[in-house]
Amino acid sequence: MQKKFIVANWKLNGDIKNITIFLKNLKLNISLYLKYNTVIITPPTIYLERVYQNIKNINIFLGSQDVGINKKGAFTGETSILMLQDVGVQYVIVGHSERRLFHHESNKLIAKKFGLIKSLNLIPILCIGESESEKRQNQTKEIIKNQLNSIFEYLGKKAFLNTIIAYEPIWAIGTGLSADPIYVESIHKFIKDYVNKQSANNLEKIIVQYGGSVNSKNAKSFLKQPNIDGLLIGSASLIYEEFLKIIKISHEISCEQINYS
Ligand code: 13P
Repeated sequence: MQKKFIVANWKLNGDIKNITIFLKNLKLNISLYLKYNTVIITPPTIYLERVYQNIKNINIFLGSQDVGINKKGAFTGETSILMLQDVGVQYVIVGHSERRLFHHESNKLIAKKFGLIKSLNLIPILCIGESESEKRQNQTKEIIKNQLNSIFEYLGKKAFLNTIIAYEPIWAIGTGLSADPIYVESIHKFIKDYVNKQSANNLEKIIVQYGGSVNSKNAKSFLKQPNIDGLLIGSASLIYEEFLKIIKISHEISCEQINYS
């Protein structure tokens, strides 16, 4: 059975005190729920090493929220893929809408970062999704196609081998207005069919997770859908109890599915 990917995106939040408490609690209670879940934590860059030291022995994985485009040199303020790898990062979020918006990251730049991450055998988590006005104008599928096409143009048919796609409609992020699970399911199906077709059907599996105002109350409705392979969680991943609840819900759904199969 394919494990569900449960990813905490802490964004620009946290401090040493709270991270220490969070990880201490998580370490105590998570082992029961890792059989069917791949749990990944993406802290702010400055705390990567600290988080890694705490999770390296308990089968939770380390992710980065972004990566610089250069490997090394005179690029003040940047963090390179080699450095991320050096401190234990295995997954890298790329193309988050907050990077696209606040840092003017284009589809082209995102494709380059995606390629860079793959070239080091790390796993990119590519964020895609439409804005509210694009949704209103029925442009969701066009926007998603463009976002995916820029990756295919740069890396060819096998671009999405060993990668994760996160569908994060911008209007659902940080608003408390999560998308309708049936709507998300249909978009995930569209993404998988499109990627499959562009890949000449040579991908064994395509993983698509959902992000946007996920919490312990709505997690089940998303994870029950056959094409929602995990969750990318922002604010609810900052509260230990809430994050663990979501992981537990995901575990229980997988157990139910196994019992029925
Ligand atoms: P929220 O869960 O806070 O809406 O954030 C979602 C997100 O952007 C995860 O990458």
